[in-house]
Amino acid sequence: MCGIVGYIGSKEAYPILIKGLKRLEYRGYDSAGVAILNDSLNVYKKKGKVNDLIKSIGESNTQGKTGIGHTRWATHGIPDDNNAHPHMSGSERLVIIHNGIIENYSTIKIWLESQGHTFKSETDTEVLIHLIEEIQEEGGLLIEEAVRLALTKVVGAYAIAVIDRLDPNKIVAARKSSPLVVGIGEGEFFIASDATPIVEYTNQVVYLDDNEIAVVSIEEGLKVMNIKKEIQIPLIHEIDLKIEAIEKEGYDYFMHKEIYEQPTTIADCMRGRLNVQEGWVRLGGLSQYKNRISKANRIIIVACGTSWHSGLIAEYLIEDLARIPVEVEYASEFRYRNPIISENDVVIAISQSGETADTLAALELAKRMGALTFGICNVVGSSIARVTDAGSYIHAGPEIGVASTKAFTGQVTLLSLLALSLANEKGTISRSQYQEYITELGQIPAKVKAALSCNERVKEISTKIQNTTNALYLGRGYNFPVALEGALKLKEISYIHAEGYPAAEMKHGPIALIDENMPVFVIATNVSAHEKIVSNIQEVKARKGVVIAVVNEGDKILEKIADYIIEIPSTLEPFTPLLSVIPMQLLSYHIAVMRGCNVDQPRNLAKSVTVE
Ligand code: F6R
Repeated sequence: MCGIVGYIGSKEAYPILIKGLKRLEYRGYDSAGVAILNDSLNVYKKKGKVNDLIKSIGESNTQGKTGIGHTRWATHGIPDDNNAHPHMSGSERLVIIHNGIIENYSTIKIWLESQGHTFKSETDTEVLIHLIEEIQEEGGLLIEEAVRLALTKVVGAYAIAVIDRLDPNKIVAARKSSPLVVGIGEGEFFIASDATPIVEYTNQVVYLDDNEIAVVSIEEGLKVMNIKKEIQIPLIHEIDLKIEAIEKEGYDYFMHKEIYEQPTTIADCMRGRLNVQEGWVRLGGLSQYKNRISKANRIIIVACGTSWHSGLIAEYLIEDLARIPVEVEYASEFRYRNPIISENDVVIAISQSGETADTLAALELAKRMGALTFGICNVVGSSIARVTDAGSYIHAGPEIGVASTKAFTGQVTLLSLLALSLANEKGTISRSQYQEYITELGQIPAKVKAALSCNERVKEISTKIQNTTNALYLGRGYNFPVALEGALKLKEISYIHAEGYPAAEMKHGPIALIDENMPVFVIATNVSAHEKIVSNIQEVKARKGVVIAVVNEGDKILEKIADYIIEIPSTLEPFTPLLSVIPMQLLSYHIAVMRGCNVDQPRNLAKSVTVE
């Protein structure tokens, strides 16, 4: 994560940087900073929010028409003033902001230390700016050439912006695997992680590609080269001035874009928290309370809607892996039913917006009754995030589509990390199981990407069932909450009545609904329940129901029985929901579009439910 912003032109840079940082704050929240160039290079940085930075800067000198700013999500080094960006080189001639991770920073650091460099922070970023300076001084090079050569020695991901005090009329920016946009105004340039800080000044932008380096200067304009020093012709995009439109990035609906963002958002959620090579899971928000949570009498999860479905998956995960009893409650019921809560309980609130009134009230009740409270939110600085004793953000980025998609998979990812972390703390899984789960979690972003390739198949099936008035969703074990989530997605954006059920419960009532007009979606990817699911499908087929089964690739048995199958990659059972929900999301999306519904703004709904 982390948000970066830069400005060079005829206006004062500071207000532009601060406004940009506020727009980018969803990308990082633990510290912020700016560097402004006038006669000298003034760097201001502060732990906390952009507002904390503004307060700490106070009346200090912020004059200057060139500057860079950063809002951080810590990876290397705790969130404090020292580790906040920007970072300066040893001689304080150069300054850098960085989004990403320099994976080989420790090797480079050892070498730089042998050359006499000393460091003020624990960050990988400070190592990079020292490397750039070392290369620049060694060869008497222009800053852009020193940046380029330094990047040839770097392994990892970065979006960076660099200023050289002795070459003051330019900013050098570069990217690999982290987004970077250059805005072209009238005699001015902007640099940012996304277009939101830029759109109010210009609609001309260039999206840098991986391994590209841009130099923006008032005299010489924008120059782009690649890491091999080959000049690139920048492709200028004209963007719609509405912020919403640029955030759709070519998709017709935010929901569609957000579905496709999931390989990235899941990876973002795991970044800095899961290390496959070294075999660990670490949740910063948990560290202070890990012992207390792992020894809790029980964990109570409060949430609403899709977030409640994530909570149900957490019940399976935490009980299965960490052996702690879990109860999952609708926040709206919990708060009014005089619940029994003790000081040995832990109450976890799950909420994308962090503002849902019932969840917030349930949490406040639990707090009053002495429970430890833990928040899992997407929106940084939201009420739930502020009210809880501890918590973790899912880092899914702004979710604008009313139907929650990437927030759901972000929540389930975070809850998987939580369950693994607690299981390791309690010793309820062996070292080899722990490693096996970690390795598989590391594969999930790539598997979600592969699962998304079922899109055309899902679209084809959607055309056949778009006119149905009812649908049934069935799943067992880890896939039961996915059945509920599939049904909710269809209901809320397509206005088709749908119900989710545990597959075995069907014969206790809903089976009466089944006839040749009833599509029955069966989520059948959990291997341990496969035979039982096959029996449930046979029961539906015997009553002429139309079965659409989501199966693991190569499932020959269900291929023969179901009317339609949708294949997705297989995974370890606890992580099944992260993949099996993908076709459910796509299905509701396509059916809604085919029925002419407004996917992003379904009737009667709102994104953040701040009233009871
Ligand atoms: C469904 C959906 C809602 C929310 C619910 C809770 O797609 O988005 O059901 O999940 O309103 O919202 P948060 O998670 O913001 O508390």
